[in-house]
Amino acid sequence: MYDPESMSRSKHIKSLRRIPQNSVVDDITSVHRAASLNVADIESAHRFHVYCARFPSEIPLQAIKEYSKVGQIVFDPFCGSGTTLVAGLLMGRQVWGSDIDELASLLSWAKTHPDTEKAYDAFSNQYQKTLFETFESISDHIDHVTSNVTSAGEIRVNGYCLALPEFLPLTYWFPPKAVVGLAAISQYAACRRKKTFRVAAELALSASIISKWPNTVSYAMDIDHTRPHRRIRRIGLSKVFSMYCGRLDRVLSALSALRRRYEGMGISNNLDQLAKVFPNMDARNLHQVSDESVDLIVTSPPYFDAVDYPRSHRFSLCWLNKPAPRYNRYIGLYRNSKLKLDEWLAGRAEFIKILPGKVRSDVAKGSKWVTFFEDLRLSLGEMYRVLVSGGTAVCVIADNQVGGVRIAAHQAMVHLSRECGFEVVHVSKRKIEPSKRRFPSGTFGFDGPMRHEHVIVIRRPPKSRIKKGQG
Ligand SMILES: C[S@@+](CC[C@H](N)C(=O)[O-])C[C@H]1O[C@@H](n2cnc3c(N)ncnc32)[C@H](O)[C@@H]1O
Repeated sequence: MYDPESMSRSKHIKSLRRIPQNSVVDDITSVHRAASLNVADIESAHRFHVYCARFPSEIPLQAIKEYSKVGQIVFDPFCGSGTTLVAGLLMGRQVWGSDIDELASLLSWAKTHPDTEKAYDAFSNQYQKTLFETFESISDHIDHVTSNVTSAGEIRVNGYCLALPEFLPLTYWFPPKAVVGLAAISQYAACRRKKTFRVAAELALSASIISKWPNTVSYAMDIDHTRPHRRIRRIGLSKVFSMYCGRLDRVLSALSALRRRYEGMGISNNLDQLAKVFPNMDARNLHQVSDESVDLIVTSPPYFDAVDYPRSHRFSLCWLNKPAPRYNRYIGLYRNSKLKLDEWLAGRAEFIKILPGKVRSDVAKGSKWVTFFEDLRLSLGEMYRVLVSGGTAVCVIADNQVGGVRIAAHQAMVHLSRECGFEVVHVSKRKIEPSKRRFPSGTFGFDGPMRHEHVIVIRRPPKSRIKKGQG
């Protein structure tokens, strides 16, 4: 667990209360000033670490403006890198976010709880100095050590005992000297007592790994680590050190800039109350969020299997001492063998149209789609439960293509929303700008068949309109 406080947090969740609106942001004018910042400015806050399929800030900014008021609670149950949360804070809302992915929780927490530039400067000077001294003292002894680098356990070098991650064939993905350097950084980052420093140090480590060739300390060719490495590079300790410190500077400067924005709005001392991130919470079971507690949901579930988050993120998570991500917790990436294709489709005639015969007759493929739809249904049911009556959910999803067959996932989402009791307010199509979005390359991503996505606006009907026995 990255967050020692999270154990006690779950006890507090049930008592989470809406903060009275006038205490959230005293000066409404300053909120408007902050909200009028241009989108490019806000987007720059997200660049210090890539996150596949992160949606552009204009989506949550528009949705929040249209469907919520200052001080209300905006929730993203698939918050990823925290785009909705940052947009919500900048528009004077309270924000809650959750995701199944550990890296997502770290990024979202960092962007909603940044420290001051002064604090980061003091931390960074001391931290980089200590790291430098460690690297210096290791460097003379490293050659005889690297031949002993294995995939688990620990390495001992010049009096240092460095722990190694357990779940990767390490030297297949990382040059041996980089393994030693990363182990040292990992150990130092984890020891930072103050959470803002620890998380920033860990995110810099992650950003040094999940980065496009050649700006990565791994052998991987792309940020998703789906393509095998073609070329073996030699990366020495000094390269690992300079890449990491460069990343750390970027992380700290982006977080300091966010902090200045929150200070300008007068909310920087209230961030613990205004922004909550629930790590490891499954959107199919939002157990930490009470019924009817959220005013607006702005979110984007996975686009079927378009991004392999566990694969992409395990390369950095292993260095952050996190467990290996489990596939069956990620919507769209697994098949529930207990779910029977025909049984699920029975009585859902619309889905017979959505899943063409070619897909239905292939039990493996058909069942994987049905698993995805069922998981979407469970997530929508939870969204319905946590929304106040009359509350809106804005969901972004793209149709994906499998084996040459395009499946209208957005239509499925519309049907499932109705099944869960929502009214469908609006469905619109928007063009995906590939240059602005990171997605796996090849046949799946934004340079493949995914050129558009759909924005689906649904509403939990106001109480007066719910008929007896419904909802
Ligand atoms: C399309 S991305 C969301 C990106 C986000 N809007 C952003 O701007 O960064 C989908 C997210 O769903 C998360 N996810 C997948 N399965 C989940 C589950 N069962 N519960 C919660 N989150 C899940 C993934 O980890 C990923 O972060």
